[in-house]
Amino acid sequence: MIGRSFAVAAALGVCLPLGGCGKHEFLPPPAEERVEEAKTLYSPALFDSIAWSDEEEYAIQGAVVFASECRKCHGLMGEGGTDYAAERKLEVPSLVEAGWEYDGDLEVLRHGIFVGHPEGMPTWGVAGITPREIDAVAHYILTSLRPEVLAGG
Ligand code: HEC
Repeated sequence: MIGRSFAVAAALGVCLPLGGCGKHEFLPPPAEERVEEAKTLYSPALFDSIAWSDEEEYAIQGAVVFASECRKCHGLMGEGGTDYAAERKLEVPSLVEAGWEYDGDLEVLRHGIFVGHPEGMPTWGVAGITPREIDAVAHYILTSLRPEVLAGG
């Protein structure tokens, strides 16, 4: 029955012991270098041609990117400090604090996500999500996650 429970676990996306989940993760080059390189690749013009058919599409796409790429470190509601992060000895900040430095500034937030940070924040602009996805997730943090969490809901 081992085979069967393995298949069930795999179908559910459950991580089995022995490191089965870590294998295909992005492994960054030396952190300072990758962030510096990303800063040279970044341009606000990357986002110029992005168009959303409506707010709903924008919000949904952002939620999808957050759930698939950000939640494991930043938490379901952006609160930070997940077990996944702790296991990797990463100090992951909350994205939903009152008075957050990025609040209200989509462009600065997109830049922050694009370049990442040497202390364990992936360089998303180089590591595989598109400017469109960065735009969507930045917008999602500012317009869905933060208002919802700060309102206590
Ligand atoms: C592997 C864990 C990990 C993942 C996955 C991750 N982050 Fe981070 N993130 C971090 C860490 C660690 C920091 C803190 C870096 C530092 O010391 O400033 C951070 C910082 C940030 C910051 C700056 C916060 C601040 O207050 O300075 C933003 C914005 C952010 N992440 C957004 C995202 C988004 C959006 C995603 C998904 C596309 C994402 N992160 C995925 C680990 C992660």
